[in-house]
Amino acid sequence: MKKFLLGTNWKMNKTLAEATDYTLAVSEIITKYPQFEFFIIPPHTHLWKLRELLDLNKSTLKLGAQNMHYEDAGQFTGEISPVMLAEIGLDLVELGHCERRQYFNETDETVNLKALAALKHQLLPLICIGEKMSDRNYGISREMLAKQLKVALKDISADQIGTFWIAYEPIWAIGVNGIPAETPYVNEIHDFLRSVLLSLYGPAGNDVPLLYGGSVNINNASEYAQLDNVDGLFIGRSAWEPDLFEALMASV
Ligand code: G3P
Repeated sequence: MKKFLLGTNWKMNKTLAEATDYTLAVSEIITKYPQFEFFIIPPHTHLWKLRELLDLNKSTLKLGAQNMHYEDAGQFTGEISPVMLAEIGLDLVELGHCERRQYFNETDETVNLKALAALKHQLLPLICIGEKMSDRNYGISREMLAKQLKVALKDISADQIGTFWIAYEPIWAIGVNGIPAETPYVNEIHDFLRSVLLSLYGPAGNDVPLLYGGSVNINNASEYAQLDNVDGLFIGRSAWEPDLFEALMASV
């Protein structure tokens, strides 16, 4: 039985001391919720320390990075390679978050290269896609999302299903200025994304976990979680404090 996924991207937040306290607290809390599979995605600088901490506590909390380069090594000042992340013993790497696309020129093509590189190094890519409000207003959300998904998954085969996840995060729903998406809209888009996965992979497309993210909070989490094609929730602000995160877990 596949577990429902619950995890959080910290973005550029938390000192190492805060990261340590949070991780210890959440590792303890999640033992009360065995029905979920949990993950956290802290900034790169904290990953070694948190890996050691999680191992020491025999925690099931999965640990991921927020980005990486697709080359193993080279003249790419300021970048981190998949080899470096694999060396830490990470479980996953988030790729193509809309903030990376918006501020750091991430494209569908680089997301694809990164996803392939992650898989080569046994890191699970958590591939993020999402449309702009203008796409929705023009009635082209499906086209935009299908393109993002198909390009990101180029050369990833059906036998790799289970080793990557997809997160749908409408750009207009993310962050402090985000407007939470209506549940029927999330339902419609997740059904559509599933149909694209089925067209790419046949029946095996049903086994690709599809997470939803964007202003997920204690008031809407359970509605989203009940949707047929929502296999997990990808949370920002509402999971950045252990007590808030626990309240959300309890609500799902
Ligand atoms: O990656 C998750 C994130 O983009 C959602 O952020 O704060 O809108 O829940 P938030």
